[in-house]
Amino acid sequence: MTRHLLRDDDLTPAEQAEILDLAAAMKKDPFGEGLGKPLAGPHTVAMIFDKATLRTQASFTAGIAELGGQPLLVDGNLAGIGKRESVADVARVLGRQVSQIVWRTYHQSDLETMAELSGVPVVNALTDDFHPCQLLADLLTITERRGSLAGLTVTFLGDGACNMGNSWLLAGALAGMHVRISAPEGYLPARAVWDRAAEIAATTGGSVAADPDPVAAVSGVDVVVTDTWVSMGKEDEAAARRAVFTPYAVTAELLSAAAEDAIVLHCLPAYRGMEIAAEVIDGPQSVVWDEAENRRHAQKAVMAWLHERRGR
Ligand code: NVA
Repeated sequence: MTRHLLRDDDLTPAEQAEILDLAAAMKKDPFGEGLGKPLAGPHTVAMIFDKATLRTQASFTAGIAELGGQPLLVDGNLAGIGKRESVADVARVLGRQVSQIVWRTYHQSDLETMAELSGVPVVNALTDDFHPCQLLADLLTITERRGSLAGLTVTFLGDGACNMGNSWLLAGALAGMHVRISAPEGYLPARAVWDRAAEIAATTGGSVAADPDPVAAVSGVDVVVTDTWVSMGKEDEAAARRAVFTPYAVTAELLSAAAEDAIVLHCLPAYRGMEIAAEVIDGPQSVVWDEAENRRHAQKAVMAWLHERRGR
């Protein structure tokens, strides 16, 4: 059965670990001297963007090339998926042309339709609900700094209801981490995601918890994570969100409550002076540039891993 990465828990804990190991190996050997070029041919990988992108487009394009493949950029506005023609028809057409489809869009259900009907592996490059590629890059970055993941504590602050909050719950639980979400009322991940993450954590030795008090939530933790308070598509709510999220800003003072050697992650783009202080993101505990680079290595591992399993 063709495999996809539509949400973090499409991988088992062992598969997540396998992909992270492969990503680390690919980082050491970026041009595939020893590991080979699994997309040689070249196989074409379509990248479709219905939302803004910088890191994702750059890291997938470079990564596909390093794997020996051919990136095909599809402008979501030109393609008009779901408007000019249905997601189902696009899936059937694209699946006849390319070996993999990477899609950044709004609705998770559209991504599921693409996976169901295209016949090729589909990778979630961010939806409203999940951002699994970012999480693999985050976990790779933490592994580089700490050696392993299981047992580490991580706190995600801010909009826990966004794609990053959901993905942290699931991916952190898969990795056996203790994931805390610190968010104001109304901004926690959906119940179904909590339940699924708790179920996973029970098998990996991890845990998931919510704490609306940001200072208590970061107290002694190994990893502090935040994200924009205004995700793509939520721009109309910007003022209201800023008002409610201000206590969750990652300032130097808040960070001082975390472990002394805690590291700080942010998937970017960052808004200094809003969700994160300039002195924090530009300071010694920040690992955001490694994190951004690691998108490429993590996604290469995902594409190679899915390609190997295509049509099985
Ligand atoms: N939560 C953010 C992530 C950006 C990479 C958004 O969806 O805009």
